[in-house]
Amino acid sequence: MTPEVEPTTEHHQNTNPVYMFCAERLRRFHDIFANDLHIRMPSTARTRLMYKRILFPDCETMEQMDEVLHRGDTLDAGSGTTINNPYSLYNHLRESGKMVGVDLRNAEVKGGPDGFTINDSIKARLINAFSDMHSLLRFQSAKRGKSDSNEAVKADLKSMPFEDSSFSQILSVYCYPYWIDDEIDREIIFSELDRVLEPKGQMRFCSDRHRLGRTLLDSGHIRKSIRDRYKVDTYDPRGYGGLADSMGNKTLVLTKNN
Ligand SMILES: C[S@@+](CC[C@H](N)C(=O)[O-])C[C@H]1O[C@@H](n2cnc3c(N)ncnc32)[C@H](O)[C@@H]1O
Repeated sequence: MTPEVEPTTEHHQNTNPVYMFCAERLRRFHDIFANDLHIRMPSTARTRLMYKRILFPDCETMEQMDEVLHRGDTLDAGSGTTINNPYSLYNHLRESGKMVGVDLRNAEVKGGPDGFTINDSIKARLINAFSDMHSLLRFQSAKRGKSDSNEAVKADLKSMPFEDSSFSQILSVYCYPYWIDDEIDREIIFSELDRVLEPKGQMRFCSDRHRLGRTLLDSGHIRKSIRDRYKVDTYDPRGYGGLADSMGNKTLVLTKNN
């Protein structure tokens, strides 16, 4: 039997010991909150700035992030209530490429109630929407504006209503793989994401692992797909904002081969 070759991973680490200490404590705190206390999966509403800090550690500026997003259409897997936050990445007007937010809890009918419970709205939406209040107050935040081309789709990530190779970027902030408990579901979702991602496209996930600690590479099927078809980069959070927004968790960037 030939030994299995691990996917080649490039780690972009922050080796500052104080930083590493804080990141580990934050991550542990987040896991206790999400796991040990049996908190039900929240539906948050992070801002564009937060998505930048959490998912684009390889981009120095917002403009660089926009350049990546302008390459084509973007799928936000498990978008939560971000579709209702005027300051979200979803609602940021862009020159090209649409943004598609997929969530189990999105409303089925366009223009109707959003499908999220009041609990989701109050607990998560407000806190996150205004977390970069200081930049809003100084008029430095992205302008509110809903692009007509964006789409909020109610669907299960296990079977998505999109053609093969529909997206150039796939983003997931604290949905995949963090909140997907079942290992088979994680495998099915990975093959769906792989199917709808175009060649040379990227997947960006934070956290890079499930809340019980298992990474995507722990599953044989996913590891094989990644090894065969993807370049793997993992990034430590950068700067204080990145550390706070990602709760110390790493970001995984998978870049698909031709
Ligand atoms: C923690 S929220 C994150 C929301 C958003 N990405 C953010 O960072 O603000 C996770 C979301 O994933 C959605 N979700 C979980 N499993 C899903 C699935 N199988 N298909 C579609 N959405 C799912 C949940 O409904 C929830 O709204």
